[in-house]
Amino acid sequence: MQDIRSVLERAQNNGVALGHFNVSDLVLLKAVFSAAQELRVPVLVGTSEGEREFMGVRQVAALVRALREEYDFPVFLNADHTHTLDSAVEAAQAGFDSVVFDASALPFEQNARLTRQAIEALKAINPAILVEGEIGNIGTGSEIHELATDLSKYLTTPEEARQFVAFTGVDVLAPAVGNMHGMSQKMVAGEMKKRLDIQRIAQVRAAAGVPLTLHGGSGTDDEDLRRAIDGGISVIHINTELRVAWRSGLEAGLAAGDHQVVPYKVLPFAVASVKQVVLARLRLFNDGKQTSAEQKTGVASAV
Ligand code: G3H
Ligand code: ZN
Repeated sequence: MQDIRSVLERAQNNGVALGHFNVSDLVLLKAVFSAAQELRVPVLVGTSEGEREFMGVRQVAALVRALREEYDFPVFLNADHTHTLDSAVEAAQAGFDSVVFDASALPFEQNARLTRQAIEALKAINPAILVEGEIGNIGTGSEIHELATDLSKYLTTPEEARQFVAFTGVDVLAPAVGNMHGMSQKMVAGEMKKRLDIQRIAQVRAAAGVPLTLHGGSGTDDEDLRRAIDGGISVIHINTELRVAWRSGLEAGLAAGDHQVVPYKVLPFAVASVKQVVLARLRLFNDGKQTSAEQKTGVASAV
């Protein structure tokens, strides 16, 4: 079984991106895992601080570990948007494979200093853990916003990326390149798409010298995502799209039987609905340049 680092390296070599999907319950986790298994592609499961608080830090770690071991499958767990050192340490101690240490709301120098400290503490717990840092502003909240905020003045510059990586030693960098967290109502309705600054992605990737993660992937134009992968994005985070599908699947499950109260008869509707979204996103992210199926998916030799 390969570790998260080699799976990431392999994605870069093959011109594909790893799909990262946030979960806050077993329905979402089942949907994400089942889609990755069906397509035979490695997958990252993410939990933000709020999602971890709901599921339990050690509990979600145990669930993902159980899937990885039972199915001998490359599924990894990321502590997403972790704002404090205590919470990052808790995740590392619970066995998370990676941590997004997110001090991006602070001024650049402070963000860099805290991220560097976090890396030192986390690598002391687990030298193999991947640590991602974040710069720029891509908004907060994987939910439905009334309108899309204009964040264009907070885009990451190549020079900021270079300085941040050189000072902190992050393994992975999350820049602001036209992406934003959450979806506007128009995006949910399919009337509007997020558009990415592809040229900036390539410049930031070259300056950073480490793999890039694209946060806020929900509602992004498909062609932009393809070009972003070509430009140097190696991990793509999707959350709101899954939450929207979770809700509509749940509503369908409840509507299917007026007197239905059996969770395992209602919830499969939500699993199926979320799984469709994950399948579509994973297909897009893994549509690499290599031709052999094994090279594309990575699973055959990743497990
Ligand atoms: O870390 C989580 C992601 O960046 C998700 O963003 O809700 O816009 O897909 P999203
Ligand atoms: Zn994010």
